[in-house]
Amino acid sequence: MTGDQIIIFDTTLRDGEQSPGCSMNTREKLEVARALVDLGVDVIEAGFPIASPGDFEAVSQIAAKFGDRTTICALARSREDDIGRAKAALVSAEKRRIHVFLATSAIHREFKLKMDKQQIIERAISSVKLAKEFCDDIEFSPEDAARTELDFLCEVVEKTIDAGATTVNIPDTVGYATPNHYFKVISYLKQHVPNISKAIISAHCHDDLGLAVANSLSAMEAGARQIECTINGLGERAGNAALEEIVMAIHTRVDYYGVHTKINTQRLYPTSHLVSSITGMKVQRNKAIVGQNAFAHEAGIHQHGMLQERSTYEIMKPEDVGYIGQNLVLGKHSGRHAFRDRVVQLGFPLDDAALQRAFDDFIVLADKKKEVYDSDIIALIENRMADAVDRWKLVSFHTSAGSSAIPTATLELQCEDQPILCDAAIGDGPIDAVFKAMERIIDLTAKLDEFDVRSVSEGKDALGEVRVTITINNRLYHGKGVSTDIIEAAAHAYLKALNKADHDRQSATDSPAARVTPQR
Ligand code: KIV
Ligand code: ZN
Repeated sequence: MTGDQIIIFDTTLRDGEQSPGCSMNTREKLEVARALVDLGVDVIEAGFPIASPGDFEAVSQIAAKFGDRTTICALARSREDDIGRAKAALVSAEKRRIHVFLATSAIHREFKLKMDKQQIIERAISSVKLAKEFCDDIEFSPEDAARTELDFLCEVVEKTIDAGATTVNIPDTVGYATPNHYFKVISYLKQHVPNISKAIISAHCHDDLGLAVANSLSAMEAGARQIECTINGLGERAGNAALEEIVMAIHTRVDYYGVHTKINTQRLYPTSHLVSSITGMKVQRNKAIVGQNAFAHEAGIHQHGMLQERSTYEIMKPEDVGYIGQNLVLGKHSGRHAFRDRVVQLGFPLDDAALQRAFDDFIVLADKKKEVYDSDIIALIENRMADAVDRWKLVSFHTSAGSSAIPTATLELQCEDQPILCDAAIGDGPIDAVFKAMERIIDLTAKLDEFDVRSVSEGKDALGEVRVTITINNRLYHGKGVSTDIIEAAAHAYLKALNKADHDRQSATDSPAARVTPQR
């Protein structure tokens, strides 16, 4: 392995989940955590345990399940109660880290915290010490570090390392830094903090100016040895640095950077797909590394070059990132064994029951369409995974529409094992009618913000994928559904999004301490 190892700290389940509409339930978070472990990340920031009982539960379960293989990290403000919740959530993890943060910039000190520099230093020290009583591995973040006076930043970093911080993270909380500026901040810390060699310097960049990845790589050149990032660059506002881009830059330009990561790059594409499917957050077609077009060569001159020698126009091989193209794999007569082998190759460790369900779906699909592609199989499996956690299921639907008919939908839904409920509605078109009938049954009213349709593979008989974004009570919810029937795909997508809203409604009634977004 070339040079130093760069620690990949994944915060998809914490900072990524703060992205509007991307909240996940515990089962979904466990699914993502499993994928992150398989991907080989060094640290999983599993959540912010004080934020809600659901966050606490998810961090506890991830700690119990994966804390022997990967370091599980929990976030806490510099407060006793936050640190207490983080400790309690991490008890069952063998490898554990508490990530304590406190804002240090003048703007945050004056307007948010109303604390002076001395108070900030004292609070940061006592919080790190308190966390240190529980575990050795402590990360401290001076929030909004990129806008903090350099000498004060040095003082905070030095004192928190003395107090026991083993990683000092330098967040560009508002995405304000530029590559050269951030390089200078990290270099300054290296030169002016006397005990800096006792801790690992970490980069944490937001993408408000589209510079998160460039800034992170710059920090690495200046000496940072941990990078905090998220799958697909998910995160607040414009998001965080994209893990797949950081990793492939390090991997592809090893000649230049001379460092390495422990990431299994072939799991990048499947992990991206999984996160997109669970959160409902679409990956743009031309997104670097994991976008659908990332390895498509359209121009004739490029195709010609590629045929002669791939490296003329390709700096990475699609297979290096686990890219799944349009491989035609199976047909109606492919047996269960062939199907199982393919599912395993695609990276889904399904148990017998899940495999059987996926195979049943495959047979139904193979009956409808002659050729089944890898992308179809993945869509079917992810669809089932998403469904498994939902309270409301679609039992049946019927629509009628036409140029001289009033579009009408009749729908049957079932909530867990309660009796099936049926209702009907009219709408602007059959899909609108389905959505209205669904809202009547579930008793939720939503505003439809986005509606996207695409085909999963090729041909007129292809599986259609519908993604919706809806707003209920000022919160965004995403949903995705697939079917060869676009109305059915839309019904699944809408139901998925309504199920998420229903889950929040349930949590609000179940627990008086419903989700609070703590003020940082
Ligand atoms: O962006 C930020 O400052 C954060 C901290 C909590 C590290 O996410
Ligand atoms: Zn952040």
